[in-house]
Amino acid sequence: MAAYTPVIAFVSPKGGVGKTTASLTLASELVYQFDETITVIDADPNYPFKRLMNLGRLPQKLNIVLDQSEETILDNIEKARQNSRVVIIDLEGTKNMRVTYAVSKADLVVIPVQGSILDANEAAEAIKLIKRTEKGFNRKIDYAILFTRMPAALVSRNFVDIARQFSDALIPVLGANLVEREAFKTMFSTGYALHDLTDSQVSGLSKAKQDSYALAEAVVDRINENRKKLMQAA
Ligand SMILES: Nc1ncnc2c1ncn2[C@@H]1O[C@H](COP(=O)(O)OP(=O)(O)O)[C@@H](O)[C@H]1O
Ligand SMILES: [Mg+2]
Repeated sequence: MAAYTPVIAFVSPKGGVGKTTASLTLASELVYQFDETITVIDADPNYPFKRLMNLGRLPQKLNIVLDQSEETILDNIEKARQNSRVVIIDLEGTKNMRVTYAVSKADLVVIPVQGSILDANEAAEAIKLIKRTEKGFNRKIDYAILFTRMPAALVSRNFVDIARQFSDALIPVLGANLVEREAFKTMFSTGYALHDLTDSQVSGLSKAKQDSYALAEAVVDRINENRKKLMQAA
């Protein structure tokens, strides 16, 4: 087991932006690439991963932990860190103590954003929460925006505008996007991880796998680079 287990938290004060979808996509990809235990902590009271667990079709090494509350999240993160290669936390679309605790332990906070100004405003709220948590817990916390549900055909004007807004504000954006693809939804409807789906179940699977590969690469690179910087500074 690698000595260092990164924690990745998917955060947005708003529901429906794609946190859960991106969490499962990343987890699927990392299990496929590393072939080691990847833990997803489902810290949403609606438990979007519960049904997937019950279907029993996820890879064995994709470990799901259903977290109870703000009283259990820190212990669950600590436990997961001990037996996983990577820990991914899927949070409720809100701001509360449980989200703050998860952020306080994160090596990278990913903020999914769809192509609307409203989403961009929510992202700004998430960043404020990260900054408060940095102060309160006296720890630097890296974060980046993830564009999700991008239209496949052409880059919409909205995305271009929002991307410019972020870059003007020096807000980091991951160098990979998730396009709006049926395959990402099909994981949830069938209970299969991305690499266990077949072309007969869903079209456009290879493109979804290209997206998930790029997402994992962007996330892992960012965490490694940040870790290098932190170690040099220490
Ligand atoms: N990349 C994507 N492609 C297709 N559908 C997506 C994608 N990301 C999210 N969705 C859909 O958008 C809705 C909200 O996504 P979800 O991941 O549940 O958001 P959140 O966890 O932030 O509430 C779901 O119906 C999901 O299937
Ligand atoms: Mg969710």
